[in-house]
Amino acid sequence: MPRTFSSDAEPWDGIKPGGPADFLKGPIVLPSLPQIQIQLQEVIDNPESTISDLAKIISKEPKLCAAVMRLANSGLYKIEGEVDTPSKALKILGFKKAGGLALGTASLSLFKRTDKAVLDLEKFWKHSIACGVVAQEIAVTAELGDPERFFAGGLMHDIGLHVIFESNYSMGVELFKLANSDGYNLYKAEHEMLGFNHADMGGFILEKWKFPRQLIAAAGGHHNPRKIESDPDAMVIHVADFIAQALGYELGISPVIGFIDRTAWDKIGITAEQLMELLPEIQRLIDNVLLILKE
Ligand SMILES: [Fe+2]
Repeated sequence: MPRTFSSDAEPWDGIKPGGPADFLKGPIVLPSLPQIQIQLQEVIDNPESTISDLAKIISKEPKLCAAVMRLANSGLYKIEGEVDTPSKALKILGFKKAGGLALGTASLSLFKRTDKAVLDLEKFWKHSIACGVVAQEIAVTAELGDPERFFAGGLMHDIGLHVIFESNYSMGVELFKLANSDGYNLYKAEHEMLGFNHADMGGFILEKWKFPRQLIAAAGGHHNPRKIESDPDAMVIHVADFIAQALGYELGISPVIGFIDRTAWDKIGITAEQLMELLPEIQRLIDNVLLILKE
């Protein structure tokens, strides 16, 4: 069924912004990063931080604390035995994993539900989580190290999309309609209406928020993975985005990409057979994580 939109929206003024920075000026304001995330980032970035610094922050936020604990038990990480206390969860996961996991999970709170949303936010949320799980499993199979970083990269990769669509209702409606019209996809519509795309916007925002370099690369490069070769993140997220959509976790908007970038696929270095073998486990993990993060 085609989506319908509130008819009381003012038509979009049609003024093309000069780029992501210009877009975020004026009536549209970049959502500020929640305090908890700023604190998490500071602790993660500081080489002198200890696991108890991390525990202090996480324990201030009961929901986050519960999510980290349940994720520790979800099968996402190969750990022995049951994790029944937050401190045990952190100890078993270790500083890096727990920090990345907490940061990614806290980030999901940015995708708030608004009454009048252009995007189907339920689909958006599921797509982000599915992409995170797929990216993580690819990273494990391809032995890229730091799987939780890829999980966070998947969770955050479309943040620019969320900001573009939820910043200005009239513009969002127009963009949605254009993206779904004949001969268009989201990417093309964004370039025509805005002069940049949601990946550019995502990279810009995460840079402003001083996110780790690889997460900036993942969000900024997921539709143009060849541009960023210093880290494999953009390539992995690009492939994971495609697979998440193929598994049915699509955004409810005409597909952005019709195919996987060949270079990205070759560079990651997993085979189609390996991927096929991974799929049942990926599906099981996605179901688990969706259930856990639904709270
Ligand atoms: Fe995207």
